[in-house]
Amino acid sequence: MTTPRPETLAKLTPVLTKRWLSPDAWRIGTYEQLDGYAALRKALKAHPDDLIQLIKDSGLRGRGGAGFPTGLKWGFIPQGDGKPHYLVVNADEGEPGTCKDLPLMTHDPHALVEGVIIASYAIRASRAYIYIRGEAVHAARRLRNAVQEAYDKGYLGRNILRSGYDLELVVHSGAGAYICGEETALLDSLEGFRGQPRLRPPFPATHGLYASPTVVNNVGTIASVPPIVLGGADWWKSMGTEKSSGPMIYSLSGRIVNPGQYECSMGVTLRELLELAGGMQPGHNLRFWTPGGSSTPLLAAEHLDVPLDFEGVAAAGSILGTTATQIFSDQDCPVYATYRWLEFYHHESCGKCTPCREGNYWMVRVYRRILAGQGTHEDLDTLLDTCDNILGRSFCGLGDGATSSVTSSLKYFKQDYLDYIEGRTAPKLSEKTLVGAH
Ligand SMILES: Cc1cc2nc3c(=O)[nH]c(=O)nc-3n(C[C@H](O)[C@H](O)[C@H](O)COP(=O)(O)O)c2cc1C
Ligand code: SF4
Repeated sequence: MTTPRPETLAKLTPVLTKRWLSPDAWRIGTYEQLDGYAALRKALKAHPDDLIQLIKDSGLRGRGGAGFPTGLKWGFIPQGDGKPHYLVVNADEGEPGTCKDLPLMTHDPHALVEGVIIASYAIRASRAYIYIRGEAVHAARRLRNAVQEAYDKGYLGRNILRSGYDLELVVHSGAGAYICGEETALLDSLEGFRGQPRLRPPFPATHGLYASPTVVNNVGTIASVPPIVLGGADWWKSMGTEKSSGPMIYSLSGRIVNPGQYECSMGVTLRELLELAGGMQPGHNLRFWTPGGSSTPLLAAEHLDVPLDFEGVAAAGSILGTTATQIFSDQDCPVYATYRWLEFYHHESCGKCTPCREGNYWMVRVYRRILAGQGTHEDLDTLLDTCDNILGRSFCGLGDGATSSVTSSLKYFKQDYLDYIEGRTAPKLSEKTLVGAH
């Protein structure tokens, strides 16, 4: 195990995670003692437009994967249109490897509740929803308790803190489908329909929940709002890089000594994160990793010093995504890992569009063939051709994301595929898995 050097420890910037280890951190009493609801008091004295400007000035970008500028998104909500406005928090967190929103809601649910109230006030919403995935029972329980505590203390409901502002907040549990994390499928699911993506335009900013102007933001995005209100835009920008401001929760999993959440200024490298996490497990050497969940192209050991911000990861040919850093070693097989992810995408494909529904079905079968020792060289071309027909041709990002590990593993680890095809690696799957594969 490596002990982090002081200069690497200094890379930790706990802002969203700062209360997580406090006793009873999820209770309103603890929260109030540790700055809790001070930002709300400040925000309610400001004009909503000034809050939107503050978030624009901070450079905050969405933490749900795409990194869209949050202040800009809030600014798209038409004002004075006479329609109800909604804030919907995306707490679905279904991306494999991602583990930042659920711990946040479990340990510090009031940070999210306070962020919801401020964001709703800024976009002039009087009703907000938190859509949390169905399996997250413990986090949902904590969240519901926090919402009740906030109502009891007058932070939610009518005439919040005597400001004249009213807000109702509903915590809604989904049924547990990855596609319901896609924002328009989430809105359909929230309205009681089967969760499938909507055609865009129109965008949620004008035709979102119940065809009304809606902001959909990730948990981490909204929980970042109270610290920005308290600390100011310049303080927020003092962390991170020029175009990727602020701290970020990196969730590390896999072959490392101390898996978990590490909140650092954006732009930290995997080399530094590994040092913070105690290094690779004994006997393991880094071979491949995802910078932001399984929908992001794999990176290899040569990318240890890539700055993990939106621009740095893009320049290395991948996507920052959800900063879910899954670490694999020389004892892991990139072909098998990709196959397991494809099984996931095939299972979670909602079936609405042909490229994703059919493409993932067939790619799973090609992988089974390769892993059972019956693959051919032609299979590799078929995989690339199938990805070509999914990427950019699917109705939503699930299809695109499914191709990431296929194309990137073929780019960096083609030899591993050839070793199965040419008989140098023993088959990992039995022939029984090939029923219907040809
Ligand atoms: C298949 C799929 C799953 C997604 N899952 C999530 C999710 O679980 N949580 C999330 O915040 N965003 C998820 N997103 C991204 C959302 O569609 C949306 O961009 C995000 O909630 C916007 O919030 P942000 O601007 O604060 O990042 C997903 C996107 C796709 C295509
Ligand atoms: S890409 Fe996949 S998940 Fe998205 S709409 Fe098409 S079938 Fe559904």
